[in-house]
Amino acid sequence: MGAIGRTERTERTEKTERTKRDGDPRILMTPSTQYADLDALLPRLEAIPTLSAETLEAEHTAVLGRKSGVLTAALKALATLPVEERKRYGAAVNQLKARFEAAFAARTAAIETERRHREAAGVDLSMPGRRRWVGAEHPVTKVVDEIVGIFRELGFAVATGPEVETEWYNFLALNFPPDHPAMDMHDTLYLDAPPAEGEPGGRLLLRTHTSPVQIRTMLASPPPVRVVIPGMVYRNDAIDASHLPAFSQIEGLAVDEGISFVDLKATLNHFAHRFFSPTTTTRFRPSFFPFTEPSAEMDVECQLCHGSGCPACKGTGWMEILGCGMVHEAVLENVNLDPEKYTGWAFGMGPHRIALLRYGVPDIRLLLGGDMRFLESVGRPGGTENGTAR
Ligand code: DAH
Repeated sequence: MGAIGRTERTERTEKTERTKRDGDPRILMTPSTQYADLDALLPRLEAIPTLSAETLEAEHTAVLGRKSGVLTAALKALATLPVEERKRYGAAVNQLKARFEAAFAARTAAIETERRHREAAGVDLSMPGRRRWVGAEHPVTKVVDEIVGIFRELGFAVATGPEVETEWYNFLALNFPPDHPAMDMHDTLYLDAPPAEGEPGGRLLLRTHTSPVQIRTMLASPPPVRVVIPGMVYRNDAIDASHLPAFSQIEGLAVDEGISFVDLKATLNHFAHRFFSPTTTTRFRPSFFPFTEPSAEMDVECQLCHGSGCPACKGTGWMEILGCGMVHEAVLENVNLDPEKYTGWAFGMGPHRIALLRYGVPDIRLLLGGDMRFLESVGRPGGTENGTAR
């Protein structure tokens, strides 16, 4: 009975609808509550292939859900429509429903395939992410910064100079007599260009050590002088496990009244204890440099075997870390300082070599290569995955 009653009611409704429609054709496009706006659903149909697993489910419920899906409601409402309308509109709703179902099924299958691909590639999205390694300072940079830092604490300033030098700064002012055999170790590239206006002396070359900056510093400012001078230097050295044709040096220079060899030893011992360890023993061996007199080489106890002898220290128990000495009178005179009034000490060391000692690196070439296994082992202690570089 109820069904018939409803039919009678809908026939009445149909009449009013038709009257309205005849008068205004747009009414067709503006459905009453029984007519869901099917066209408005098309953009949602097209968006389905872009939905994520979560939004897909919500959208499925919103469109086809048993209780409140838009199309479900439209299908339910069919029963209240006049026969003619029910056929026409019902066909449209059913067709759209079929398209939605196909689209949902296709997207569900695609998401499942993506998931299986990720699983096969070993990617588990539920795992916490790995932090990316953003990189670390180069071991040589770290060594330079640390050495400079120790001397800064002692009141030394940082000075720098040009990598292209004149022969005068690189050799003559430092008391290398012309053609002295000491220059054999300092073969380098000469530039086919004249020095800048007013620069003293000779041809241009790639500096072979940082010592010329001693000269520049003393010419630029009167004592007291206390500087450390980091920089790159160049030599005609064949590349092997311990030699590079371009490498770093740090120069040190202290000039003042009343400076003696005691200051040199005390300062360099303090440095060794700060840089290596408080119990590291040191020794000074007599040596020769044209710009210092007396001159010495400083060794620290081998950082690997601590003095007992191992392949790294060639069985000696010692590792050489720098050359040093009292600034030669001739050098002071070359920069117009009175050697009767002023004395000084100086040192030169190679941070590349010191980085080898510090990190136990067997071959200096590793410091230039891009081998990630090496870089990670010195860049992030413990080789952890969270990228906390020192
Ligand atoms: N310039 C020297 C070299 O490259 C190293 C050096 C030794 C520097 C003794 C100094 C020093 O200042 O006093 O071999």
